[in-house]
Amino acid sequence: MSLGPRRLRVSPGIRRLVRETRLSIDDLVYPMFAVHGTRIREEVPSMPGVYRFSVDELCREAMQVRNMGIPAVLIFGIPESKDEFGSEAYSSDGIVQKAVRAIKESVDDLIVATDVCLCGYTSHGHCGVLDGRCVENESTLDLLQRTAISHALVGADIVAPSDMMDGRVDAIRCALDEYGFERTLIMAYSAKYCSAFYGPFREAADSTPKLGDRKEYQMDPGNVREALKEVSLDVDESADIVMVKPALAYLDVIHQVKESTDIPVAAYNVSGEYSMLKAAAMNGWVDEQRAVMEVLTSIKRAGADIIITYHAKDAVKWMESGE
Ligand code: PBG
Repeated sequence: MSLGPRRLRVSPGIRRLVRETRLSIDDLVYPMFAVHGTRIREEVPSMPGVYRFSVDELCREAMQVRNMGIPAVLIFGIPESKDEFGSEAYSSDGIVQKAVRAIKESVDDLIVATDVCLCGYTSHGHCGVLDGRCVENESTLDLLQRTAISHALVGADIVAPSDMMDGRVDAIRCALDEYGFERTLIMAYSAKYCSAFYGPFREAADSTPKLGDRKEYQMDPGNVREALKEVSLDVDESADIVMVKPALAYLDVIHQVKESTDIPVAAYNVSGEYSMLKAAAMNGWVDEQRAVMEVLTSIKRAGADIIITYHAKDAVKWMESGE
């Protein structure tokens, strides 16, 4: 009997010729954690291969990331101290502000995106100002505007609000424009689900809520039409890029979001997804290179134009090695 679809798989050359989805360095954003101090390079216990860097080390690392050809980094900060209103998030001497300023001074041609949220900076660990047990929308918007402006001021190319407050994209856009930062992009965490997969990140950033959870502002995992609504609101509020987060348990959401909008779609391959794979690989249960490339390709195939991933550096090495 003659072959059918298998004829398109007969050799590496043919497979290469007909491959529909191809991961590219250009798709990748590498998340990084900044801490106060000097000469610190501290591995996150639940995320082998991921470090918290003091600003000097962060710059060295950012330079290496740029030299590998990765186009962008996403910066998170771990503050010196926390308070009820998350003041370090919008302080000119805050950790993110210092980190971005230093990267922009020492590394050319690297896009710097920043996470705009208060959860790592508030004593209670919620993403905004608490009114009783509830996160207050309006007063939080005010602080998010201040945070975004403070990031733009030190040179952030993209601000990425991850707080899930209503109306924050519009609030941040207006504030940026008012202060003359018309060229600063907003990458909105539009469909951000209330997910167990943020666990290792919360260890890395020390941002677990002290009381309660984030179900009143992050999305319910069962919903997809609601994701489309969030995306369309953010597009109307002039988001430049929309994001789905996490990625792997939400590939259908990425797909539908991609179909529903013309603007670039980012997907965040989050900490728990990274740690899960890393742990299995370290136990010899899966082949890390193949599993990572398969996962990243699936996120792209689902429709992501941009993939934010802790695997970025490894993925680049593996892309260069050919397979
Ligand atoms: C801050 C924020 C979180 C992540 C990105 N920005 C954590 C959260 O919402 O709890 C998660 C990233 C990851 O898990 O890799 N709001």
